[in-house]
Amino acid sequence: MFAKLVMIVTDENITLRHMREEDISLVLEIERKSFPYPFGEVLIGNIYYGAPELCFIIEEESNIVGFLLCGYTATLKQAHILSFAIRPDCRGRGFGKKILDYSLEKMRILGYSSIKLEVQVDNENAISLYEELGFKKVSKIRKYYQDNSDAFLMIMDFD
Ligand SMILES: CC(C)(COP(=O)(O)OP(=O)(O)OC[C@H]1O[C@@H](n2cnc3c(N)ncnc32)[C@H](O)[C@@H]1OP(=O)(O)O)[C@@H](O)C(=O)NCCC(=O)NCCS
Repeated sequence: MFAKLVMIVTDENITLRHMREEDISLVLEIERKSFPYPFGEVLIGNIYYGAPELCFIIEEESNIVGFLLCGYTATLKQAHILSFAIRPDCRGRGFGKKILDYSLEKMRILGYSSIKLEVQVDNENAISLYEELGFKKVSKIRKYYQDNSDAFLMIMDFD
């Protein structure tokens, strides 16, 4: 069991915390509303049980509004953002930036030296958010997604 890091509750009644097992069904619901080829329950469960210390939740008034799930590459001390979404009716209100910022800080404290992710090349909202928080486009991965669309590989180094 990992040592849980302190949760944050802001003045606006927003809570940032680690994911718990009982969150899986709501995470899955947001995942399904957010991606054309969503991860299924088994994969979300595997990601969570594989590295619960790298799975994060954001709540407003105790309702889950988004999540960010990562895995890790032990040899590289690199974490990998595997899925990240905010409930469609809650987007554009700063939740995405808050949970990404929080997750990056927790991963920095855990000793990761870099974070990587893949993002669809036309996902301008996500790309500008990642760039704002320090990620850089490293390469383009052709036909990365099931519909044959391309991804950018983006990496952020903590030093
Ligand atoms: C990407 C996503 C997580 C962003 O969450 P969000 O809560 O809507 O984002 P925020 O309100 O915190 O906005 C943060 C930044 O994102 C960018 N952004 C968000 N919405 C935007 C929009 N409509 N137009 C342009 N930029 C936008 C901006 O850089 C913004 O920063 P700013 O407010 O300083 O301009 C959300 O849109 C989402 O769930 N999308 C579907 C799933 C997805 O694409 N996930 C990423 C997979 S790699």
